[in-house]
Amino acid sequence: MAKQIKITETVLRDAHQSLLATRMTTEDMLPILKKLDSVGFYSLECWGGATFDACLRFLNEDPWQRLRTIKDNCPNTKLQMLFRGQNMLGYRHYADDVLEYFVQKTVANGMDIIRIFDALNDIKNLKSAIGAAKREKAEVQVAISYTTGPVFTDEYYVEYAKRIADAGADTICIKDMAALLTPYKTESLVKAIKKEVNLPVQIHTHYTSGLASMCLLKGIEAGADMIDTAMSPLALGTSHAPTESMVAALQGTEYDTKIDLVALSEIREYFMTLRDKYIKEGLLDPKMLATDAKALIYQVPGGMLSNLLSQLKQAGKEDQLTQVLEEVPRVREDAGYPPLVTPTSQIVGTQAVYNVILGERYKMCTNEFKDMVAGKYGTTPVPVSEEFRKKIIGDMEPVTCRPADLIAPELEKLREEAAAYAQQEEDVLSYAMFPKVSVDFFEKRRAAQLGVNPALLDKENKTYPI
Ligand code: CO
Repeated sequence: MAKQIKITETVLRDAHQSLLATRMTTEDMLPILKKLDSVGFYSLECWGGATFDACLRFLNEDPWQRLRTIKDNCPNTKLQMLFRGQNMLGYRHYADDVLEYFVQKTVANGMDIIRIFDALNDIKNLKSAIGAAKREKAEVQVAISYTTGPVFTDEYYVEYAKRIADAGADTICIKDMAALLTPYKTESLVKAIKKEVNLPVQIHTHYTSGLASMCLLKGIEAGADMIDTAMSPLALGTSHAPTESMVAALQGTEYDTKIDLVALSEIREYFMTLRDKYIKEGLLDPKMLATDAKALIYQVPGGMLSNLLSQLKQAGKEDQLTQVLEEVPRVREDAGYPPLVTPTSQIVGTQAVYNVILGERYKMCTNEFKDMVAGKYGTTPVPVSEEFRKKIIGDMEPVTCRPADLIAPELEKLREEAAAYAQQEEDVLSYAMFPKVSVDFFEKRRAAQLGVNPALLDKENKTYPI
């Protein structure tokens, strides 16, 4: 029976986040949006993840305006975003009132599909986001943070997938952010999930170790319904499998995507020119496009490996990398096997470095590590032993409820703080995510409107001399 595989094109979000530090501007996207909209992609991933931060921090762009621009130019294709559960697009847990308002405004500005995940795969941390997205009638995709380790069996993921289905998700994504999947692991995992859970399954994996297109193909044969790809000029390396290659691989088979390769090649031309520009500007280092199987050897994400090395260098102990790499699995085991993804990869990595360079385990612990052991990030895949918890946090009472239940409503307070700058309702949400970065952006925006130099700002009265 024919089954058309659906494609999520990631060139407007994850591809440039993975290859060029999320620096693609709306201006660079604009000339190709109508063509991208006409091809027949199931969705265009174009927002969320690091794009929101990068717009405000580096590109002097309003992320909300970017979303509206993409929506105006892509009325026929669903727009998709990545959403870090209760952290949304920021780096801390937010109160539910902020989360609900964020989701409401996101959908109102044109978002169709919200892909939600939690670093610990704790369903409690996803409850509010799923509820809010459903109320706004968005398509809700919940992503499993894929990782490896003794407890991460197919059964573990099937259990989580069942909870995701019970929580009301429309689709499930296997999110292999660290490129740890192999083709046969993908096959067995997809089969296991499809057997127990009656929801469409999407595969998101990175090309880092050179296996992504094989993983996608095995996943499709095992029953996956949707895949993430990137237009070839911004594919491969730390990005995704090339869209054109996957479309060609499936053409004329029962999985045919019905996407026209000639139309794709026109889009390719455009992104090829952009890629040359990014290489010239130094934004895209061609090294990022090389295959690197280190992640598979050490079972840690590539980004984490380079962080560990730079921490050791700072301490003048780069000769101890092997010890640290051996320490990471121990720390992970002690801490309840958190998947290694932002922010848990940093927390585990830094603690492993401390353990090794101080010559004694847990002689010194970071506050973040204590918080994770205390349950402040949510429930870890395996419970932390009573004994270990006592050693790290003493008699402090561990958090067992949903961590966001401990956060009082904060939207009104944020509104007051942002009032002096706000020019649209969404501005309070930018401010909530990145207060300092947003204020800088708001001030620059005001200066541009007044035609004055932003350096002339009277910081105390928040006004410009005109
Ligand atoms: Co990704």
